[in-house]
Amino acid sequence: MSEEAVETILKPDFSTDVKLQVKNITKKFTIRKKQNGEYSTVTILDNISLEVKKGEFLVIVGPSGCGKTTLLDIFGGLSKPTEGTVSIDGESIDGPDLNRGIVFQQYALFPWLTTAENVGFVLESQNVKKKERDKIVNKLLALVGLSGFENHYPHQLSGGMKQRAAIARALSFEPDILLMDEPFGALDSLTREILQRELLRIRNETGKTIIFITHSIDEAVFLADRVAVMTVRPGTIKKIVKIPLSRRSRLENEDIRSTKEFVQIRQSLWALIKEEVFKSQKYFREERK
Ligand SMILES: Nc1ncnc2c1ncn2[C@@H]1O[C@H](COP(=O)(O)OP(=O)(O)OP(=O)(O)O)[C@@H](O)[C@H]1O
Ligand SMILES: [Mg+2]
Repeated sequence: MSEEAVETILKPDFSTDVKLQVKNITKKFTIRKKQNGEYSTVTILDNISLEVKKGEFLVIVGPSGCGKTTLLDIFGGLSKPTEGTVSIDGESIDGPDLNRGIVFQQYALFPWLTTAENVGFVLESQNVKKKERDKIVNKLLALVGLSGFENHYPHQLSGGMKQRAAIARALSFEPDILLMDEPFGALDSLTREILQRELLRIRNETGKTIIFITHSIDEAVFLADRVAVMTVRPGTIKKIVKIPLSRRSRLENEDIRSTKEFVQIRQSLWALIKEEVFKSQKYFREERK
């Protein structure tokens, strides 16, 4: 084995500094039953603890309704945990902050603004001068492959282009962490694969820490340094799986998905998730009774 190959295996692709620390998070919602008007408390997330390293790409998977979005909302400061703490660089988070950029499943672009205006929106609200803003926006549009589409409105863009614009906007204020909730869920499979590759390239160029939710096991294996598998409700972390594919091979090997290694990782991850998906189907069947 070449020296370089050995080094790739030994050296982690991300630093060992902890960026995001989650300690014993529990989230409960109080809901009012339609049938009798009584209030009851449901536990959505139960005692979740995890650490994400600086520059790491963590993917979260789990059955529908297990609390993935709720967890990401807590990381983004959009929702508060009932118990537990989340800290970034050792400081507890308290509400939304520009050190976290969020990309939602729906493109969430303003239809009355052009691509460039959408990307520069947050900068404008922070009173960044037009000249400086244009410079940043142009650089970001080039980074996400949208140069030439500055003056297009969202309805003139394809789904993939809208999501590129949403990623550019999330990067505009230079957040340390990107929180992405099924950002490629609505795209066709070809565009999705292209954007996955682009996202890895952008991550390599910017060194951002990324937390990414998906329902696609293939996407999880391709993107993640580690995959956190969640259990059915109440959501807990069932297992965190390290994906032993090097960053370079993901970008350089066009056919990585058909390699034996990739297929094996995908199968073992599916075995872990399958159990939870079946349990969740049973859970919802019983809840309907
Ligand atoms: N504000 C709320 N009040 C009551 N229950 C809620 C609230 N928000 C979410 N829930 C419940 O919490 C559970 C988890 O929701 P969440 O959206 O986090 O799941 P998810 O894992 O992201 O699902 P999906 O994969 O379908 O996106 C769901 O059962 C949902 O009904
Ligand atoms: Mg969700």
